[in-house]
Amino acid sequence: MLITEDEIQKFDQELNTLQPKQIIKAAFEKFENIAISFSGAEDVVLIDLALKFNKNVSVFCLDTGRLHPETYEFIESIRKHYSIEIHLVSPNTDELESFVRNKGLFSFYEDGHQQCCGIRKINPLKRKLKEFDAWVTGQRKDQSPGTRNDIPVFQKDNFEGLSGALYKFNPLANWSSEDVWNYIKMFDVPYNPLHTRGFTSIGCQPCTRPILPNQHEREGRWWWENEDGKECGLHAANLIARK
Ligand code: ADX
Ligand code: SF4
Repeated sequence: MLITEDEIQKFDQELNTLQPKQIIKAAFEKFENIAISFSGAEDVVLIDLALKFNKNVSVFCLDTGRLHPETYEFIESIRKHYSIEIHLVSPNTDELESFVRNKGLFSFYEDGHQQCCGIRKINPLKRKLKEFDAWVTGQRKDQSPGTRNDIPVFQKDNFEGLSGALYKFNPLANWSSEDVWNYIKMFDVPYNPLHTRGFTSIGCQPCTRPILPNQHEREGRWWWENEDGKECGLHAANLIARK
């Protein structure tokens, strides 16, 4: 489906005034071929909301091989709790083996996370997204004033090498962390136990640590790098928008 720039802006403006539940409903009405990307953190809210409208919603999770044991257990518990399929997307074996053979398991501490994230997350994501016309993410503006402050609710996505149009919904864009946690508590939504141990944002185990009081939500991600590096490329559009 090809949507013009004007239509994208108009739809985004309409959705901006709505609550996440209505945004997800509108997303399902607009696209049949749509998937939720679930990281195993508080974005579980997306699954809870989506199942109200679509019992067969496609859900995928990028299995980098480096997630916390608690996150793997949480993903399994969500699969059972909601009786849904969660497609775990693995990195390309040849690419991963050659990378680890050359650079070992912790090269990101020395020369940055981009290469490892490229192999373990971005390339598998691009492969997975070829199956869909649109995807839904749990990004919020308040997660990162530096890179996410301007994320729209609806946008055209751009990845290098992507053929065909791909669209992206960020239904939680205008929700705060507090809104998300109020929803989780109010509707008894299961959550990753790492959240009770100071992890606010949860990514891969070697690249995520708990934050201290008054630190920003994503300060525990790739903490050895500077603020500008705190995007891994899954949401490349955020970085392009800042240039
Ligand atoms: S990241 O780019 O820094 O890793 P973040 O952890 O803030 O992203 O998550 C934002 C959204 O990106 C999640 O709500 C989810 O939609 C998507 N996402 C992040 N990590 C994954 C993952 N491992 N698998 C699937 N989706 C993910
Ligand atoms: Fe690799 Fe860390 Fe990126 Fe995970 S977050 S893919 S371990 S660099």
